[in-house]
Amino acid sequence: MTTPSKTHVQMSRIMNATEANLLGNIHGGNLMKAVDDTAGVVANRYAGGPAVTAALDEMTFLTPVRVGDIVHTSAQLNWAGRSSMEVGVRVEVDRWDEITERVHVASAYLVFVAIGEDGKPKHVPPLDLETPEEKRRFREAEIRREHRLARRAAIEASREIEPSDKAVDA
Ligand SMILES: CC(C)(COP(=O)(O)OP(=O)(O)OC[C@H]1O[C@@H](n2cnc3c(N)ncnc32)[C@H](O)[C@@H]1OP(=O)(O)O)[C@@H](O)C(=O)NCCC(=O)NCCS
Repeated sequence: MTTPSKTHVQMSRIMNATEANLLGNIHGGNLMKAVDDTAGVVANRYAGGPAVTAALDEMTFLTPVRVGDIVHTSAQLNWAGRSSMEVGVRVEVDRWDEITERVHVASAYLVFVAIGEDGKPKHVPPLDLETPEEKRRFREAEIRREHRLARRAAIEASREIEPSDKAVDA
């Protein structure tokens, strides 16, 4: 069985001028892509095949990333269910023009679903939890999962009551 720490992946890259926003800092969408890419590597490896992004929780950007900065995205599996997995990602940056501590830029939790050859969700192996930290992350991921699923169910239920809303939200 695989422990969360064995799923850990870190990717690093220099951000370039084509990724900047109107203020000259790095566009948030490029950081979100780096987060999704890194989490996808974790999920695909754990699933032993393709996994798709099903959800991305709220992502707060704590500080701007500048052109030339080195962005590090590190990710590992927090939780595995039947076919879905939660991956936690932390984004940090090394400034291009000074040697300081790495700066925390953002964190995010993503849900991936493993897809089989028939195009349907397929089972993933159970996760082996060893350390107190891994157990804490697993527990907290279960709380987030309950909230996501409850929210989705509540929205679906409200659409059944007010079918005309479908046209507005779809
Ligand atoms: C993700 C996807 C495969 C789920 O399909 P589905 O028909 O809802 O599948 P199921 O209802 O069988 O759910 C599969 C698993 O995903 C979980 N899941 C689905 N949507 C979820 C969500 N929004 N949040 C959390 N978990 C979710 C289910 O709880 C279930 O988990 P489990 O098997 O571990 O118990 C489907 O919605 C999809 O293909 N979405 C598009 C994905 C994609 O293209 N991503 C790239 C970005 S464009």
